[in-house]
Amino acid sequence: MKKILVTGGAGYIGSHAVVELYQAGYQPVIVDNFSNSEESVLAGIESILGVAVPTYRVDCADEAALRGVFEAEPNIAGVIHFAAFKAVGESVQKPLAYFQNNVGSLLTLLAVMPEFGVENLVFSSSCTVYGIPDALPVTEATPTKPASSPYGRTKQMCEEIIHDVSGAPDNKLRTILLRYFNPIGAHDSAKIGELPLGVPNNLVPFITQTAAGIREKLTIFGNDYDTPDGTNIRDYIHVVDLAKAHIVAVQRLLDHKADETVETFNVGTGNGNTVLDVVQTFEKASGQKLNYVIGPRRPGDVPAIYADATKAEQVLGFKTETSLADSLASAWKWQQTLKK
Ligand code: NAD
Ligand code: WQD
Repeated sequence: MKKILVTGGAGYIGSHAVVELYQAGYQPVIVDNFSNSEESVLAGIESILGVAVPTYRVDCADEAALRGVFEAEPNIAGVIHFAAFKAVGESVQKPLAYFQNNVGSLLTLLAVMPEFGVENLVFSSSCTVYGIPDALPVTEATPTKPASSPYGRTKQMCEEIIHDVSGAPDNKLRTILLRYFNPIGAHDSAKIGELPLGVPNNLVPFITQTAAGIREKLTIFGNDYDTPDGTNIRDYIHVVDLAKAHIVAVQRLLDHKADETVETFNVGTGNGNTVLDVVQTFEKASGQKLNYVIGPRRPGDVPAIYADATKAEQVLGFKTETSLADSLASAWKWQQTLKK
């Protein structure tokens, strides 16, 4: 089994990727400092797979500690780097912490990987790098715009750092940048899923917590946008579909099939849905009536964005499989597990 180091492997997307990696025949090794996850996630992964996944409680920005993981785990074939802080609003409050953690952990990783001859990297980027796009859907060639938050800027900076490092003489690094759109839902088993700490910022956990009676009502942030029903448009991708994109990306790197030292792919469904679409689809999929009100716009929100998913389909052979309704049903099933 080829060994893949998964930084942030105890997190929302990372935990689903660990499961898919193992099931695809890889040996995942988790590195996580549990700054935004709980150790109970490991039990969920073990319960799905029937085996424990080797896990190191290490901060990726701590070079000596990260080196220790590479020493303890010889023959790492590649790294998937999920570890980062991801809350847009918090990044405005604590920009330095976001640059230190998100840029710092990448720099450390890029310094340590070549010491151990590890040349393959899959990096978690985000549709946030596109800012407010001029035309929809966005392709990988759509120019990036100034980021609307320090979080977004960390992703832009990380992409640029990877390009610069890859361009250096004698560099052996090969990277696939995956620009995720909006991941939602949970594993079919409802043994792992999203675990927001405190009041969720994201739409779907807020919806499921409202339906569960934890929140009184959902506030929809504005219905006066230039969209069919006035609410924002996003591309919601099921987290297991997203996790599977990492498997094909890793395989492409290990097979030396990448055309360039850095390749970039949008990972979305290619469909745009409004906030009201999501609410109505959730109501149908869950059989729950959702209490919601229309409120003011949220500062910094992009009115509409969704992926052109053609490149991932043509080059990686990757296509999403899960409908919005099934994705939302899985989120609801997971929420009910949490209530017990
Ligand atoms: P998450 O917070 O659930 O997972 C991140 C994991 O990384 C957590 O378990 C956290 O404890 C860990 N971590 C953070 N900093 C670390 C460090 N310095 N060392 C070791 N572990 C560290 O987030 P997620 O939703 O799973 O996101 C994973 C990645 O995908 C992030 O890079 C995020 O920016 C990116 N992304 C997320 C979304 C989204 O909407 N969830 C969208 C686009 C991109
Ligand atoms: C989705 C839609 C809100 C909550 C964020 C990051 C982005 C990426 C994905 C990491 C928007 C509306 C939300 C609520 C609402 N993450 N909404 N009421 O803002 O598209 O993207 O996560 O890279 O960088 O910015 O996701 O889930 O917060 O919002 O009406 O209580 O739901 O206005 O239109 P967003 P979200």
